[in-house]
Amino acid sequence: MQVIRKIKEMQASSDRLRREGKSIGLVPTMGYLHEGHLSLVRKAKALSNAVVVSIFVNPTQFGPGEDFEKYPRDEEEDRTKLEAEGVDFLLIPEAREMYPSGYQTYVEVTEVAKGLCGDFRPGHFRGVATVVAKFFNIVKPHIAVFGEKDYQQLLVIKRMVEDLNFDIEIISGTLIREEDGIAMSSRNAYLSPENRRKATILYRSLKEGKTSFESGERRTFALCKTVKESLESVGEISIQYVEIRDAETLEKIEIVNGPAVIAVAAIVGGVRLIDNIIIVREEKPFCYL
Ligand code: PAJ
Repeated sequence: MQVIRKIKEMQASSDRLRREGKSIGLVPTMGYLHEGHLSLVRKAKALSNAVVVSIFVNPTQFGPGEDFEKYPRDEEEDRTKLEAEGVDFLLIPEAREMYPSGYQTYVEVTEVAKGLCGDFRPGHFRGVATVVAKFFNIVKPHIAVFGEKDYQQLLVIKRMVEDLNFDIEIISGTLIREEDGIAMSSRNAYLSPENRRKATILYRSLKEGKTSFESGERRTFALCKTVKESLESVGEISIQYVEIRDAETLEKIEIVNGPAVIAVAAIVGGVRLIDNIIIVREEKPFCYL
């Protein structure tokens, strides 16, 4: 695995791969890798000739008072994991090259980035869209893989790619969970053992919502009420939102009669956690993997 820290060097390597007729798959990450990230790497590997993983804790997507400074980092361990997956390039750019002094260009996706996490993390998706657009120009991938763990982020990226005519296919990877059901996240490292146990209520409450849907409930207010009550059954959890949205457009819906997602965000022991569950998947004539 080649470790690249300079933008020009990555661009030259990608140009070479493209000249050789090889397809490039990109998996952007902020590091502190877990099985969720690695599942995306495996998907990229199955769908392209050369896999590039980027690790960059992107300052522009963190708001004031958020965890940018203390975001967990472990470059050595990440390298070992990616080597074991047979990744071809690990891109670790420097913040001062990504955002040199005088930097002033940002990408803003409007509607899809509103509501849900967009309301609680102002400017977050602007930072995400900007850094991902930069990575697309640096790595020049044919495909890029994003996880359904960050469902709104996935749709923001899909919208950006369509609107800005990036010639890149966005592939989604299913949400990977720990054995106790908690969605894998680098931020789980912040949880004390007790709060970690409490945090399992997120997925349990989503499953209750899904069960209610499967028993015939179609009204989103009723489904959300079920999820909220379940979340509230565990003390000391502060709910930011529980919402059901159209799974394709993220538009608000009152009745579920097509692909839909239940999304939650809550603070457990000072740690902000998000999770979601798809209650109806889009029917596709065929699907990859
Ligand atoms: P990060 O949180 O490191 O996540 C990198 C990718 O891994 C994202 O596409 C995310 O959705 C996916 N991922 C995280 N946990 C997952 C899980 N449990 N199951 C499946 N996929 C999971 O998301 C970011 O970084 C950043 O915003 C980034 C896109 C890199 C831009 O800075």
